[in-house]
Amino acid sequence: MGGELATAGPAVRISHLRVKRGRRLVLPDLSLEIPRGQVVGLLGPSGGGKTTLMRGIVGVQIVAGGTVEVLGRPAGAPDLRAKVGYMTQAPSVYADLTVTENLVYFGALLGVAKGRVAEVIDQVGLAGQAGDKIANLSGGQRSRASLAAALLGRPELLVADEPTVGLDPVLRASLWQLFRELAAQGATLLVSSHVMDEATRCDRLVLLHQGRVLADATPAGLLASTGAVSAEEAFLTLERQAPQTGPGQTGGAP
Ligand SMILES: Nc1ncnc2c1ncn2[C@@H]1O[C@H](COP(=O)(O)OP(=O)(O)O)[C@@H](O)[C@H]1O
Ligand SMILES: [Mg+2]
Repeated sequence: MGGELATAGPAVRISHLRVKRGRRLVLPDLSLEIPRGQVVGLLGPSGGGKTTLMRGIVGVQIVAGGTVEVLGRPAGAPDLRAKVGYMTQAPSVYADLTVTENLVYFGALLGVAKGRVAEVIDQVGLAGQAGDKIANLSGGQRSRASLAAALLGRPELLVADEPTVGLDPVLRASLWQLFRELAAQGATLLVSSHVMDEATRCDRLVLLHQGRVLADATPAGLLASTGAVSAEEAFLTLERQAPQTGPGQTGGAP
């Protein structure tokens, strides 16, 4: 449990977040709350700002305005380091080290107990590859090694950027199962995907399009409010209704 960190209130509270990347206004004015203990899907097409938003929450994104609070502290605060796990879109482990060597290294940086390494390897289903170099693993195994690293500190908030990309259906299902288990133990999970049918795995959905929140609802609520039969259809309905004034977009057919 959280100790000095806030244990009540939302896991993440974002108010009027504004982010520019290069010359592009990626997030013009984003406000959002992420409740605790749930699996929240951040869904939307590529280029919509999912990674940028996640970087803002983890505290590694330079922001032009607004506030991001995580567990009651400003995003990126030093005391959040072990409490917020970040699984980046590209694997973030060393190719020339084994799975175990990577996790021992990251574990030492976080100051976690030695026994934790074997636990997280087990959790992500890599026990059979623990002694293998990352370079010799499949893409899916590599991303699970990154996930194991993000789990080392028993994060209260796990931010996972497109963790299921490139996984076969069986691994995909087992990863969602793991996310559900972590949430059942009280963690908050923010999981991005550009695959809309992953919506059914989530307690809540945030649909992001051109840097704007198109919807923030339960899966059932989203379908009820749009009259759609799938998250994909709901997204398309909402996208058609949204003002077509995307950040950095000019012109284009109506
Ligand atoms: N370093 C950067 N410099 C300029 N623009 C960027 C940079 N990184 C991302 N972008 C732009 O920001 C927008 C949102 O990107 P991103 O957050 O990666 O979206 P998503 O994760 O949903 O695919 C895209 O239009 C992308 O081209
Ligand atoms: Mg992305």
